[in-house]
Amino acid sequence: MSETVKITVDGKEITAPKGKLLIEVCMENGISIPNFCYYPDLSPQAACRMCLVRIEKMPKLATSCTVQVTDGMVVTSQSEEVLDARKGMLDFILGNHPLDCPVCDKGGQCELQDTVFDHGTVYGHYNVKKNPTPEWRLSTFIAYDPQRCVKCYRCIRECNEVMDVHALGKIFRGTHEVIGPYGMGLQGGYHAMEKGDPLDCEQCGNCVEICPVGALLSVDSRFRSRPWDMHETVTTCTYCGDGCQMNLGVRNGQYVRAASKDLKGINGEFLCVKGRYGCSFITNPERLTRPLIRRDGQLQEASWEEATRYIATRFKEILSQKGKDSLAILGSPRLTNEANFTLQRLAKRGIGSANYGQIADTEWEKFFAHLTAPLATHAEVKTAKTILMLGGDPTENNPLSGMAIRYAVRKQDARLLMVNSLRTKMARRQARLFAHIRPNAEVAVIAAFYESDPAMLARLCQISGLKLEQLQRLREEVLKAEELLIVIGPEIKGAALVAAAQLAGHLNKERTKQIKYLPLVPYNNSVGAIDMGLPTNGQQLMKQFGQQIQALYLAGSNPVEQYGIDWQEALRKLQFLVVADLFLTRTAQLADVVLPVTSFAEQDGTYTNTTGQVQRINRALEGSGQLRPDWMVANMIAREMGVDIGAKGSAVGIFRDIVAENSAYQGITYERLKRQGAQITNRPLSELMNVAELVKELRGACQRIDTSVAHNQQVVAQGTGLFRIGTLTGHSPVMREAFVKAETLETAIV
Ligand code: SF4
Ligand code: SF4
Ligand code: SF4
Ligand code: FES
Repeated sequence: MSETVKITVDGKEITAPKGKLLIEVCMENGISIPNFCYYPDLSPQAACRMCLVRIEKMPKLATSCTVQVTDGMVVTSQSEEVLDARKGMLDFILGNHPLDCPVCDKGGQCELQDTVFDHGTVYGHYNVKKNPTPEWRLSTFIAYDPQRCVKCYRCIRECNEVMDVHALGKIFRGTHEVIGPYGMGLQGGYHAMEKGDPLDCEQCGNCVEICPVGALLSVDSRFRSRPWDMHETVTTCTYCGDGCQMNLGVRNGQYVRAASKDLKGINGEFLCVKGRYGCSFITNPERLTRPLIRRDGQLQEASWEEATRYIATRFKEILSQKGKDSLAILGSPRLTNEANFTLQRLAKRGIGSANYGQIADTEWEKFFAHLTAPLATHAEVKTAKTILMLGGDPTENNPLSGMAIRYAVRKQDARLLMVNSLRTKMARRQARLFAHIRPNAEVAVIAAFYESDPAMLARLCQISGLKLEQLQRLREEVLKAEELLIVIGPEIKGAALVAAAQLAGHLNKERTKQIKYLPLVPYNNSVGAIDMGLPTNGQQLMKQFGQQIQALYLAGSNPVEQYGIDWQEALRKLQFLVVADLFLTRTAQLADVVLPVTSFAEQDGTYTNTTGQVQRINRALEGSGQLRPDWMVANMIAREMGVDIGAKGSAVGIFRDIVAENSAYQGITYERLKRQGAQITNRPLSELMNVAELVKELRGACQRIDTSVAHNQQVVAQGTGLFRIGTLTGHSPVMREAFVKAETLETAIV
């Protein structure tokens, strides 16, 4: 237990951890201290001087955001002297502040408004002529109003410390000082860019979120709603596997913004560019609104009754001619647990087809089937001591996980040991050891943890392209770690993936260590889709199209966009194709029937994130009356086909069935999810495999590595994953404006 001290604040005795910041101790004990520049987890700044308090034996008032508590400290936080000083500070801040609260996005949610209100009349002693300055567009996403800025520098510290992007800085000095973009100089140093230059950054908008006033603004949502005029619903992001919690703001049936402010969810106030700015696809007028049936070669509008009856008739015809396995059903790592569970039931229980699953590039079910240690939550990632990262680029593809790993390195001095074939940003900036391997050689490094023969280790070095000392150091660091987090990237496949899942058990035979895993899965419900019983076999099933498989029900995937011509040609071989999606994607354009389904914002349900935590999605919008959730569509088709899938009429009913059938979900209810937030699934752990067999497989996989391939020396560019445009981001206007080049605009997204 950490050492504690006793302090007295306004006559109240408080016990607190030694060295904790006084402002934090006060706030945790219900003593309110006004502040602007203080922010939890950011380094102290002492810029605004709003948090002044009197500390006995100190000659002057002190900033409580920089003072650490010591035993016997006696503090006065409420007195005329303190109030007087704070009012004086507010005077300075308001000196040049515009009186445009009625048109400011932050009006009603502004820390300056609240603080002035709390302090009653301010003096107005600092009576200077206002210096109006026009708003300054920092990027497609972010605008800056210099006159509203209170110079707290939260934004700069957020960008430097939390994001590790270093895009913002102070420009000019004194009363002319503004916040503006900093660019990386040619020699790697920083230089202030000219006013008006675009912000060269990840565009996460976390600086906007953290700004206490309306100085930093999100361009896509500003002036569109007053905070009190907007209905906000807490839900889960629909992009990557991390599962950030967000507030979806809706006004007059239209999506306004996604924000994370004041959420107590797993991400605190963090969102990445996709979560924050990529949700406007929800009310994109290009959304499908009615079922479409191909007639005379054209997709034409139809009613749900017509569409589902037609689907059922065609499915039954094909099944009776070609047998049960002629119909394939593909769910998706994008759909809810409830949808994937119902689709799996339709295939297995309703039709009896062996051909069901999902399209994915990594066979994650192998990882979960061989798991030998629990998954770590993001909170646990933040406190990791040693991190072994096998592949993956969380900065670009799992941004919350990336932030949590950076936090562990920054705050806990965690030892990050990275094995990667790419020079990712994390490898360059946070890694204590970067084992830069040749492409596709991860398996050789994983094999090294199962080998001890020096000759074999030397051979693995040759295969992986590492120096022997580097491999030995990596092994030593991992073997000696008492607390270890193993992060698995999506490029770890086959025998390497199984061996990676077994590694914790192999390293911890004595059970004296604490080892956890973080798999970097790509989609919002990659883990849930596997838990719902959908194998990642889409690419194999595709090879059977036109042969064993003659009909396909494809929900929530756009493989033609993702994989191109192979899928396009394969889908054309089918007798009958049904696609359920939000937009008329390139895949949907090939279908015989297209079904318009609800987005994550228009339905209730659950996702299971990369850390195995289940979280709710909540309906924020009604959606058009013609949209149906995927689970309901599956029920409708089952009913029309006359097959029993134990259909439930609500998402909550289906979730109860999920819990009954899947022991990892036991005890989780919608009520608990609402009340307590994210719930951890209790995954069964696997026994240790026969090492000799595993080693044999690993050696075989190592043999197949092409050792003539050179190391990839290219640096992974900012935005490689974050700015990649897919079906949903491509239908979010601001993302499209920022990341789709004009010449490819029409062809990029369908
Ligand atoms: S949007 Fe994110 S990356 Fe860009 S300046 Fe703000 S905090 Fe930094
Ligand atoms: S822009 Fe906002 S967060 Fe940044 S210094 Fe100004 S007031 Fe503070
Ligand atoms: S980190 Fe992942 S879950 Fe979080 S906002 Fe970004 S895409 Fe969404
Ligand atoms: S909050 Fe302490 S000086 Fe700003």
